[in-house]
Amino acid sequence: MMNNKYKEEFLSIWRNNVHREGADELIKYVSSTDFFIAPASSQYHSSFDGGLCAHSINVYRRLKDLIEKEPSLKGKVSDESIAIIGLLHDLCKANFYKTYFRNVKEDGVWVQRQAYKINETYPFGHGEKSVYLILKYMDLTDEEAMAINWHMGAYDSRTMGGAPQMGQAFYKYPLAFLTHIADSMATYLDEGLNNDDENNFF
Ligand SMILES: [Fe+2]
Ligand SMILES: [Fe+2]
Repeated sequence: MMNNKYKEEFLSIWRNNVHREGADELIKYVSSTDFFIAPASSQYHSSFDGGLCAHSINVYRRLKDLIEKEPSLKGKVSDESIAIIGLLHDLCKANFYKTYFRNVKEDGVWVQRQAYKINETYPFGHGEKSVYLILKYMDLTDEEAMAINWHMGAYDSRTMGGAPQMGQAFYKYPLAFLTHIADSMATYLDEGLNNDDENNFF
């Protein structure tokens, strides 16, 4: 079941850190989607109702911590940037999954369990889609846009045929590289595989 504590936490981080023009309109848009009840993945990390919101908070915390520990970035990235990047890097996953019932065998008995599958409503890509959706309501700095755009690192499907831009972006914008690391840490360290235990929350 969806737990409202993630939504409340998300909104309080947003309100405390983001004061940019368009911030309210952007959050109104986010609330009009299924962002706060969507899973973070169909069957891997945080695949429970509210998992996308929980994952976004995890990435925000990991990124904040990584920047604090990186001498070349410490004190140079605003709390506003960290909140925007962490909380909205996966905005592309809003209105992206749908639920269905799957037959599974539990203790030798077939039962129906709710599951998720991908149902992309606006196939624009991943990080680039998050950037595009945010820019409809609120401006981003070049650094924030770069960090959100490339947060998947080499897992981005655009890199499959080779994408030298990603490495160039990481050299030029170290924040983009740390965002990728924060995303990976949240996914693989904070959130378990096929995790439906909402208490396993960073
Ligand atoms: Fe992502
Ligand atoms: Fe992510």
